[in-house]
Amino acid sequence: MPAPLRIAVLASGRGSNLAALLAAREAGSLPVEFAGVFSDRAACGALSIARDAGVPALALSPRDHFDRLAFDEALFAAVEAVQPALIVCAGYMRIIEAVVVERFEGRMINIHPSLLPAYQGLRTHERVLRAGDRVHGASVHFVSAELDAGAVIAQARIAVGDGDTPESLARRLLPHEHRLLAACVGLFARRRVAPTPFGVALDGALLQEPLRLADDGTLRDAAGGRA
Ligand code: GAR
Repeated sequence: MPAPLRIAVLASGRGSNLAALLAAREAGSLPVEFAGVFSDRAACGALSIARDAGVPALALSPRDHFDRLAFDEALFAAVEAVQPALIVCAGYMRIIEAVVVERFEGRMINIHPSLLPAYQGLRTHERVLRAGDRVHGASVHFVSAELDAGAVIAQARIAVGDGDTPESLARRLLPHEHRLLAACVGLFARRRVAPTPFGVALDGALLQEPLRLADDGTLRDAAGGRA
């Protein structure tokens, strides 16, 4: 059994994805150690969740820094100081400067509420409805210098109903996000996933397409086999 993976979590809001990771660790299904939770918003729910769980939590305010780069340098210096093996963006809502992202490429992942490469950026639920899509979902991907464009590791899908609103889609997708993120972090914790110049490798073999979250909470490969 490898040593628990040291992770840092970046979050800006409510923190339900962080809570899901903490719960999975508590349940014994996620062998990680929380090195710290970092935020750009001092009053966000994620920081309270971290503190309640006894995880070191730090917020820096963008307003206290000269520009975006100065803020990112300060925040990521603090992140680096706790020596995480993996950085998990779980509802972190700021764009990170490319020079900073590049330093962490291959060891920073993000959860995004769309089936990437569709709907990068904001207001994904609203845009899915406006386009008339019948399927929506969430993706966990490596963070690269281009926004929401890094290699996708795994996705969760939900059907879009006739009566759906942006709010109902967000609400219905969220529990799938929680399972998806925990399952993906689990792959890292078990040292099974790695970035390559050609895409994501799982157990040393290149994934032909992102893994999919099945109804039972497990990740499946393109052939439906358990990842
Ligand atoms: C989640 O839905 C996540 O996918 C989204 O923010 C929410 C955070 O919720 N992330 C993005 O939109 C990133 N562009 P949480 O604070 O309850 O985990």
